[in-house]
Amino acid sequence: MGYSDVYAAWQADPDAFWMDAAKAIDWVRPPSKALFDEKAPLYEWYSDGLVNGCWNAVDRHVEAGRGNQAAIIWDSPVTHTKREISYFELRNRVATLAGALRAKGVEKGDRVIIYMPMIPEALEAMLACARLGAIHSVVFGGFAAHELAVRIDDAKPKAIIAASCGIEPGRIVHYKPLLDGALKEATHQPDFCVIFQREQEVAHLEEGRDFNWHGFQYGVEPAECVPVEGNHPAYILYTSGTTGAPKGVVRPTGGHLVALNWTMKNVYNTEPGEVFWAASDVGWVVGHSYICYAPLVHGNTTVVFEGKPVGTPDAGTFWRVIEEHKVRTFFTAPTAFRAVKRDDPKGEMVKDYDLSRLRAIYLAGERADPDTIEWTKATTGKPVYDHWWQTETGYTIAGNPVGIEPLPVKLGSPTVPMPGYDVRILGEDGHELPAGELGAIAVKLPLPPGTLPTLWNAEERFRKSYLEHFPGYYETGDAGMKDADGYLWIMARTDDVINVAGHRLSTGGMEEVLAGHPDVAECAVVGVADELKGQLPMGFLCLNKGCDRPHGEIVKECVAKVRQEIGPVAAFKLAVVVDRLPKTRSGKILRGTMVKICDNAEFRPPATIDDPAILDEIREAVRPLGYGG
Ligand code: COA
Ligand code: AMP
Repeated sequence: MGYSDVYAAWQADPDAFWMDAAKAIDWVRPPSKALFDEKAPLYEWYSDGLVNGCWNAVDRHVEAGRGNQAAIIWDSPVTHTKREISYFELRNRVATLAGALRAKGVEKGDRVIIYMPMIPEALEAMLACARLGAIHSVVFGGFAAHELAVRIDDAKPKAIIAASCGIEPGRIVHYKPLLDGALKEATHQPDFCVIFQREQEVAHLEEGRDFNWHGFQYGVEPAECVPVEGNHPAYILYTSGTTGAPKGVVRPTGGHLVALNWTMKNVYNTEPGEVFWAASDVGWVVGHSYICYAPLVHGNTTVVFEGKPVGTPDAGTFWRVIEEHKVRTFFTAPTAFRAVKRDDPKGEMVKDYDLSRLRAIYLAGERADPDTIEWTKATTGKPVYDHWWQTETGYTIAGNPVGIEPLPVKLGSPTVPMPGYDVRILGEDGHELPAGELGAIAVKLPLPPGTLPTLWNAEERFRKSYLEHFPGYYETGDAGMKDADGYLWIMARTDDVINVAGHRLSTGGMEEVLAGHPDVAECAVVGVADELKGQLPMGFLCLNKGCDRPHGEIVKECVAKVRQEIGPVAAFKLAVVVDRLPKTRSGKILRGTMVKICDNAEFRPPATIDDPAILDEIREAVRPLGYGG
């Protein structure tokens, strides 16, 4: 069957399609049906089935004779360490860790926050939670204490599992002091913390609250897998929305296992036993789905890479890892290849390595620009596939169904909707637009298994953010179009979310921080184009009347404040002081126009603008930073 047959089969009988896909998962009690639509427009999948995520990712492979296969290969150029963990070893380690958590009171439904760098123990912590039916919430290491505190107060974890430190090129990230700071700020306090002490930094443990990762597991009974309902949350992953308050995307267990397993063959054309590498971070959705769960559920070997595409030690690192660990499928963000290309424009370093085992390269996380795709393809000689998805969905909305049938690649398009996704382009009034016209990208409800059924503790926000604007549809927040061949083109966000080095950030969140500076009366943050990171945040600051402090000083303080409160990952380094912001007569800040000015793109001043002269002031203000033409 080709792609159109498979897509048509799904359309004709979605329940049969997803019940069939569910057979590839071990159920303690198989579900009686796939879709539960009694609470529409809120949908659930496989709700009356019983299943365990850890069993499917680990134990069942040991039972099936894969015990000696490497489950995880850890490659850490920043610590000069490599290690392999077999499925057998992983099962024992995870069962013991789960046993220790259980002994301290962690049970099904309890939340556990995980704050760890790219070490195998991060995956073990996630899987130990899954084993108990506890709901994990991994927080990315590049976020500051305040962001961690916000997540602690929202998820209300019984336990926090953290590492003593992370390692960024040239500096140690002191995780434990960040955790202590977050706990000082948070209202909610966990019952206990477990700290994995790394050689690079041994953290101070607080008597009674903090336990050493090794010591606290000593002599405990290993835990068995706890069956959970198909709709039981496997994890909460916070992502950026329009405001500073992150959205807690809920991932339901059954659908997540079924859908991820389905993608491994159909999207990634990967067979069980092969090595799969997603060069991302466990703190992001790509890390949850394709460093941890999907490759393990499918019986692959996953690579956990603690390093960067460049500088650890050089732009040949990707190629070295692919050769050394016999990687068959490689997945990263376009920005990573832009970084490699910048350091090794002619791709000379590829020639030092044998990439013969690599089958294909997959890109996601941000728009894949044609130059980057062409360069990567020419440099490696491998097919390069873009695919489009979001934290909310957890896997491909649109991609190239290579395992079913590779479709011709159109540069700049992530290709076609996957079965499960009925993607439509809608005009402002909710009517479907014809091929070739730009509009809001929406998915007809229900979304397929594994996608978010709601937001943690925030059903109203879920309805408002995703379901209300276009009744009967899920609003993706992306704008784009479909062409005459049914290919999708993802052009821009329709909200205040920007994408910096494949990381999703909220300009609204940054504005909230800047507005808290005592000299700032009003501000705006927009995403301006950047050759390496795709976008960078740029701040515009209007100061309080009478403020005569040097502008440079205030800008510096604002940059430090965003780093301090959101974290280094915000990459907020560009800001200017302006007298006023361009607005419509009704007072709406013209952020889109500001972006066009910064990027020196063509634009027509909106008819509703209050005073067009401000646009020249904006251009003059950003010129010294190399923007505005
Ligand atoms: N813990 C602590 N700090 C972190 C961090 C982490 N896990 N990850 C990033 N940071 C810091 C960086 O050190 C940097 O700090 P600096 O301002 O002191 O230099 C800052 O956050 C910004 O990081 P980043 O935007 O990643 O920039 P970079 O210059 O360090 O690296 C790339 C640029 C392109 C090499 C890098 O972003 C990359 O490899 N991206 C791959 C894309 C990816 O993983 N996307 C996830 C979704 S697929
Ligand atoms: P995240 O939730 O962090 O995965 O970010 C999701 C957002 O990143 C999407 O809504 C898009 O705006 C953008 N994005 C992800 N993948 C792609 C892609 N392949 N092409 C264009 N934009 C993408």
